Amino acid sequence: MPFAIIPEPALIQERDGFFEYTGLPVIEGDFQNEASVLKEQFAQATQTEAPHSSIFSGTDAARKIICKKDESLGAEAYTLAIGRETIELRAGCGRGAYHGLQSLRQLFLSSEKIPCACIEDEPRFGWRGFMLDASRYFYSVPFIKKLIDALSLHHINVFHWHLTDDQGWRLPVPEYPLLTEIGSKRTDRRFSGAPSRCGFYTEGDIREIVSFASVRHVEVTPEIDFPGHASAILAAYPDLGCTGGPYRVEDRFGIFDDVLCAGNDAIFDLADAVFNTLTRLFPSPYVHIGGDEVRVTRWSQCPKCNKRLAGAGLKEMPELQSWITVKLASMLAEKGKTAIGWDEVLEDSSRYTLPKEIAVMSWRGAEGGKAAVKRGHPVIMSPSTDGCYLDYRNCGDVEEPGQWGVSTARQSYSMNPVAGMSENEAALVMGGQCNLWSELIYAGKIAEYMIFPRIVAFAENMWTPQVRKDFANFAQKLTVHRQRLDMLDIAQYRGRLK
Ligand code: ACM
Ligand code: ZN
Repeated sequence: MPFAIIPEPALIQERDGFFEYTGLPVIEGDFQNEASVLKEQFAQATQTEAPHSSIFSGTDAARKIICKKDESLGAEAYTLAIGRETIELRAGCGRGAYHGLQSLRQLFLSSEKIPCACIEDEPRFGWRGFMLDASRYFYSVPFIKKLIDALSLHHINVFHWHLTDDQGWRLPVPEYPLLTEIGSKRTDRRFSGAPSRCGFYTEGDIREIVSFASVRHVEVTPEIDFPGHASAILAAYPDLGCTGGPYRVEDRFGIFDDVLCAGNDAIFDLADAVFNTLTRLFPSPYVHIGGDEVRVTRWSQCPKCNKRLAGAGLKEMPELQSWITVKLASMLAEKGKTAIGWDEVLEDSSRYTLPKEIAVMSWRGAEGGKAAVKRGHPVIMSPSTDGCYLDYRNCGDVEEPGQWGVSTARQSYSMNPVAGMSENEAALVMGGQCNLWSELIYAGKIAEYMIFPRIVAFAENMWTPQVRKDFANFAQKLTVHRQRLDMLDIAQYRGRLK
């Protein structure tokens, strides 16, 4: 295992000799922004217990990494020519350069001696995502930064930030102060009256995270879940529900009958203010608008929702879901953003043509994604049934933490986002994503244990050309890679890979 780079590069040709170094090589040439991130990461490694940790504390002036812009390379592509005294990195832009430097970072974490080689690399899919549910558990800013840094080590390039749900609203919206004042707090009913971990991210926190991610070429895509999973909104603004309440920020987990009232125009005033905040804080071209698990129990009994249904020329209550999706997506389009929705947004839209731009995140299985590409939508595959739900247990042992089911590293490695699709359909698949729902997470360390190493397997799945993928080889590389994760103080599931 001379390299054990994960994700496996598209091509590695080993050469004679070694690049040996006693500290961080001097980094010259283009891509100095990316180089300074590597310097920061290298310096952080001084605190580790690595056998060769002394090399992290200094510079080796006799060794060089020379970075060159090469416009013949694609946006995320890079090449590395590792010689005895210099490493030449070529990339078309900063994204590719960063990926190349992260592959080197892995090598540096493992050894003070790297075999000479030529490496050529670029990803199979453009969307290599990870979603963190920060509603059910409120993660600290330092934890999120550490996680984004670790994701970027594996060329994961999208951090999908699930900011709202029944159990907590985490985004400050100036026009609606109660969203955070009331909606970010829930009472933990395991105790008599004690609040559970509560809070919201300030604008400063969000800017800090977005900028930290941006220099690591990770795009932060926010999610605001409309019109279901809305208990925290309703607790703050009860007039936005069909019954008027009273409501409370939920402490139980599950799916609830109370959702935003589809007949009340005020829900779009709220959405407009939320979208303005998102547009201000998040440069991502995408906003995830949720759309999952919306019950129509209240809509069916609500005069305003019935009036809306008739006014819009619809017949069945569930059609209001797509009516709302179209409206939210067009509001976003006016602000220059593209909507993403969970695969339910496709349902009950026979009378509605959803704009083709709406991207569909397929989570209940692959079927939603397959149906979406047939209708011309871009798709991100994140099937809970096949390796993408990291809140599921790592294996069948009932003593493992996790909920609902089992999701193995082998599944994360093998899920094929374009299985069963024609070439034209497959061209609409942007890539894939793993999600961590946080109902059973009570600490960032537990989150890490659920995320690693399955996200590592998934990263190779999304990045590496199909012909270069090999689970047995991955599992062997992981024995080396686990030490790197240890050096970064990342908790990981250590059971046998299945
Ligand atoms: C989801 O897991 N409810 C998208
Ligand atoms: Zn209603």
